[in-house]
Amino acid sequence: MSNKILVLGATGTVGRHVVDGLLAKGETVRAASRSGKPIAGAEGVVFEYGRPETYGPAFEGVDRAHVLLASGYVDAKGLLLPIIEAAAERKAKVIFQSVFGVDADDSIPYRQVEIALEKSGTPYVILRPNWFADNFHNFWKAGIEHGQIAVPAADGKSSFIDARDIAASSVAALTSSAFDGKAFNLTGPQALSYEEAAAILSEATGKPIAYDAISDEAFIGILTGAGVPADYASFLASIFYPVRQGWTAVVTNDVETLTGKAPRSLKTYAADYAAALKA
Ligand SMILES: NC(=O)c1ccc[n+]([C@@H]2O[C@H](COP(=O)([O-])OP(=O)(O)OC[C@H]3O[C@@H](n4cnc5c(N)ncnc54)[C@H](OP(=O)(O)O)[C@@H]3O)[C@@H](O)[C@H]2O)c1
Repeated sequence: MSNKILVLGATGTVGRHVVDGLLAKGETVRAASRSGKPIAGAEGVVFEYGRPETYGPAFEGVDRAHVLLASGYVDAKGLLLPIIEAAAERKAKVIFQSVFGVDADDSIPYRQVEIALEKSGTPYVILRPNWFADNFHNFWKAGIEHGQIAVPAADGKSSFIDARDIAASSVAALTSSAFDGKAFNLTGPQALSYEEAAAILSEATGKPIAYDAISDEAFIGILTGAGVPADYASFLASIFYPVRQGWTAVVTNDVETLTGKAPRSLKTYAADYAAALKA
């Protein structure tokens, strides 16, 4: 019986912490990325979305997997369904990193991937994280360098979650069967507007950061001007609609249910990542 865990996006925002958390628990980890390089104490494997010939070697001898679609890709169904199939064929348990709120409508592509997983017959846990705190140092960093966060969120609030808490939730789900067959809506401890978030980041970095509530069109213009493909820029703009509607302001206890610990606040995130936010 194999007991190896495959982590997709293993060098990415959530995946790197999943790898670390599993290794710390003494698990055997296979880290997937396009380069296939080993990471820390994990063996590496070449894996590429849309290249099914890489799925067999990646899932070979694996009994559990953290499955996600990397940022920058729009076709969630086209890219993820064959991966769910590859896992299910081998009866590997899937922890699927989905998206907060997609259970509102079964026609949403990420929800359709969840439904396929639910029907696949393989053990699974669905994690639906809210907006990542880490976006501030990953995606909004260029603006922060100029003292500004410019997004089309109006005064909508989000319970930002630290990627380390998403990863810890996945590690809990990967290393216990207690959560199998369930879905969890992962949030941080508090709903904050982007204005409130900007104030927290200003305090942590010691430099003034303002929030500019721009339109979808202005946002798409900034992103495409920075080289983001037009379809992905439009997709990113569209996911601020739920923020403006107040749907991302929900706070749940699901991180604590999975990990036994309360999720980190944005203040803690900002203090821990102050150097990255300022660099
Ligand atoms: N950001 C948010 O606020 C948010 C909120 C809720 C849900 N989500 C969801 O979370 C997911 C993204 O998670 P994340 O931010 O942890 O991922 P991420 O950091 O964007 O993932 C990057 C990782 O994926 C790998 N990768 C990139 N392109 C690849 C390709 N073509 N084939 C194989 N591997 C590839 C990268 O490795 P190499 O480059 O080394 O190949 C790297 O390990 C998305 O599904 C998103 O919808 C995000």
